[in-house]
Amino acid sequence: MIIAPSLLAADSGRLAREVVRASRSNADWLHVDIMDGHFVPNLSFGPDVVRTLRPLTRLFFDVHLMCSRPEVLLAPFAEAGADQITVHVELGEQVTPLLWKIKSLGRKAGLAVNPPTSIQLAQPHLDQIDTLLIMTVNPGYGGQPFIHETLPKIQQAAAWRRELGLAYRLEVDGGITFHTAAECARAGADTFVSGVGLFQHHRLAAAVAKMRAAAVSAAPPRALAAAPALALV
Ligand code: DX5
Ligand code: ZN
Repeated sequence: MIIAPSLLAADSGRLAREVVRASRSNADWLHVDIMDGHFVPNLSFGPDVVRTLRPLTRLFFDVHLMCSRPEVLLAPFAEAGADQITVHVELGEQVTPLLWKIKSLGRKAGLAVNPPTSIQLAQPHLDQIDTLLIMTVNPGYGGQPFIHETLPKIQQAAAWRRELGLAYRLEVDGGITFHTAAECARAGADTFVSGVGLFQHHRLAAAVAKMRAAAVSAAPPRALAAAPALALV
């Protein structure tokens, strides 16, 4: 299980200290939301923020681009220190070249699907990605309530992963609390982004541990059928 505090919910007046706090919390990833004021009606961080924060922690930097023209941002974020870069499936024909570009920059590639968007649109890209991000709120703002209608998409994505023998991570983002993390884990998610659900807690490490425990105890046992068959000679 991967627990990824979302920087959007950190105290923006003291981002450096917040990243150190996240780093000491036993979290696995730091989720960094990039908003362009066009793909979503809000603005957040640019590559310079990632460059400044990168030396403060060894956390994996999970950069989520909610941007209409991500092609101009891939190299700047890769150079700034992103470990994974996620683009949205709603960009249509651009998605395949964007994923190739991310891989060619030596970074892991993620693909995000908004709540109103059919999960079927992600299917042609599954063998190209490291992470499938199922948005569980409409992107743009932190602190929104979890949309339960997204749960069947998580189940579908987990079923495809089993059936196709793929290994992409199944990430959820938006309205993730201890309770909804468990619901998503039950549906097959293994990577949990949480902003307000974690940063609102004074003791971040305890909150991370509690979310991890909630996810682990709700997760279905690994299907034996998913293990690769031994070759018979
Ligand atoms: C929403 C962002 C999320 C956001 C989640 O547009 O993609 O990563 O930070 O925030 P919470 O967990 O507070 O809903
Ligand atoms: Zn996000």
